[in-house]
Amino acid sequence: MTFPRIHFLSIPLLLCSVALGAEDLVVADFENDTFGDWKATGDAFGKGPASGALDGQMKVDGFEGKSFASSFHGRDGSTGKLKSKPFKIERSNLNFLIGGGGFPEKTCINLISKGKVVRTATGPNQKPGGSERLAWETWDVSEFKGEMVTLEIVDAQTGTWGHISIDQITQSDSPAVVAIDQQFKINQRYLIWPVTRDTSHRLRFFGTLDGATDPLFYSDIYLTDKPDFWVFTDLENYQGRTITIRGKIPGNLQDAWKLVKISASYPGESELYSEPLRPQYHFTSRRGWLNDPNGLVYQDGTWHLFYQHNPYNHGWDNMHWGHATSTDLFHWHEHADALFPDAEGYMYSGSATIAPKSTTSLPLQGSEGIVLAYTANGNLSYEADRLPVQSVAFSNDHGKTFTKYAGNPVVAHDRAENRDPKIAWYAPDHHWIMNLYYDANDYGIYTSPDLVKWTKTDEYQIPGEAECPDMFELPVDGNPKDTRWIVWGANGKYMIGKFDGKKFKAESGPHRHYFGSAYAGQSYDNAPDGRRVHIGWMRDGGPGLDGAPFNLQMTLPMDFSLRTDAAGELRLWAEPSKEVEKLRSETKSWDNLNWSAGEADPFADFKGGQFEIDAVIDADSPAAAIGLNLFGQNTVVWKKADQSFTGAEGPQPPVDGKIRLQVFVDTVSLEVFVNGTYTSRYIRQNPEAPAIRVVAEGGAAHFDSLKIHRIQSVWK
Ligand code: FRU
Repeated sequence: MTFPRIHFLSIPLLLCSVALGAEDLVVADFENDTFGDWKATGDAFGKGPASGALDGQMKVDGFEGKSFASSFHGRDGSTGKLKSKPFKIERSNLNFLIGGGGFPEKTCINLISKGKVVRTATGPNQKPGGSERLAWETWDVSEFKGEMVTLEIVDAQTGTWGHISIDQITQSDSPAVVAIDQQFKINQRYLIWPVTRDTSHRLRFFGTLDGATDPLFYSDIYLTDKPDFWVFTDLENYQGRTITIRGKIPGNLQDAWKLVKISASYPGESELYSEPLRPQYHFTSRRGWLNDPNGLVYQDGTWHLFYQHNPYNHGWDNMHWGHATSTDLFHWHEHADALFPDAEGYMYSGSATIAPKSTTSLPLQGSEGIVLAYTANGNLSYEADRLPVQSVAFSNDHGKTFTKYAGNPVVAHDRAENRDPKIAWYAPDHHWIMNLYYDANDYGIYTSPDLVKWTKTDEYQIPGEAECPDMFELPVDGNPKDTRWIVWGANGKYMIGKFDGKKFKAESGPHRHYFGSAYAGQSYDNAPDGRRVHIGWMRDGGPGLDGAPFNLQMTLPMDFSLRTDAAGELRLWAEPSKEVEKLRSETKSWDNLNWSAGEADPFADFKGGQFEIDAVIDADSPAAAIGLNLFGQNTVVWKKADQSFTGAEGPQPPVDGKIRLQVFVDTVSLEVFVNGTYTSRYIRQNPEAPAIRVVAEGGAAHFDSLKIHRIQSVWK
């Protein structure tokens, strides 16, 4: 067997590798039935190598050939040692595969020279969970060349992860793994990285500023020398400083590491926002994955949108808070990430508020500051034994930079993976409130005088819901004297009730607002003119699946109100935020459009792209099914018999005999507002099929009006 080798590209290096590249010497490959001349003591290593998971063990992979040395015989309770014969160091590196427990001196492999342990390594795991995968490790042993040494594999640990796995110990002039420790002067905006979409190459890097002890961030990045695309760490806020990147890479990625550098731009930047699958009027990130909108907050004419961001690949990972701002909810300007994962863990979802100085003990400099409340998911920290907790960060420069509060966390771990704090000001009692998700369908409410000290005041359920609470007050049918509170979860289910500043009392629900792909939305708490503007995340099926260097998009911004419906029940009602009207162009409209199957299609010439259709259907039309066929599919159809609407659950009854449909098509998405509910999904526009056709089954369809607007790109 050989471990990953360096592939030298240039000729001088090739010569050099030939000169250095003596054959590898296998010290032990554990491919036989017994340990041969290695001596086992205790029970843990059994009678010979293991060929996979032993009784009671998770799947083990990453070993070479058919077997490896495992101390899981007798499970975690057993202990033992496996010792080699003395052998001579003849190459500069000792490479081996290691997995299992991460306890120094207890679950380890040691190199012994002259009776002393001169090198030692453990597996990666100390707490429940983790992985049994073996990974390469290299010791530079050049200083021991010519010496006789021995190896011992130790299992002196019982309990969780009280075992170790070792394979393929090889002497070599090429390191299987190379330690990275490089300083970069930040004199330009980006640190750029070439990455592969192949997620088996996950490599962890730590970035530290100006020689600090705690890293500014850590992230798992799929480095490669054959990039599918390039990503970057946006260092806009750290100009003039020095960043040190540390990590371990396979020896054969040394060329890829040389491509990582500080740069004023990143490859692909000139095509930014004109890539084939790029949405043209929905928010997407320049690079990487996004999920939940976080920290929606409005300040001095600027809408801030923070969001769950993995800047380094198309899948969920490395949770940062991305950040973008806009003055009209559509033209977004993306900034550097606002929160990086740190020793507290990944930066999970949360919210933001504008805190006047008098309402907080956070060290604000001006009269007010933006405060972010987020979950630090300690379960995903590189530090052992952390739990998910709630923390805050504040900005004294209108959101350009954020400082994590030194006294974090502000809400200790309560249970399970508690997360997603949504904070807001409760004016009548002059205190802050926080809604928090716990587990199952359970949520809690906390109050605080200062955004730092929090007291739990209530727990409530939203049946069928999980994650990402929102809580807000709305006037009933526009009457400010008659209000209700809404509690909301990630699937778009909500309860309507009363709130006294501490406790929520449900009057009805759960009701359902979202259908299709939207998830984890939240609303701006301080939008002007009493508006309740909401943005969600469209999950499942985004452009990243087709190879785009970014993945997934936010929903259209929408305004919520609370209305009494035809059955006399209160329901949330959503309308596309009015700012979209400014993007309309080339409007075509029809009044009193009657259409039956077989007639000439009124929109035959219309080509796909970005557009909006605003239609009012007469529910008394003769047709049994009425709607629109987009790109060859009956995607937007209302059926008279059961009043069902494609993709939406439950009946969608007409309002005053009419069905108002607003359909928004962007590069890869379809969103429909039908009588106040919202449905969305990712689509692929089929250029072969007509973009829009009328659907009328079993008779003529009558549209009181139908308008088609082109929607202009916000990027051009
Ligand atoms: C919802 C969610 C949140 C969590 C975040 C992590 O999509 O699972 O509960 O905070 O995503 O990215």
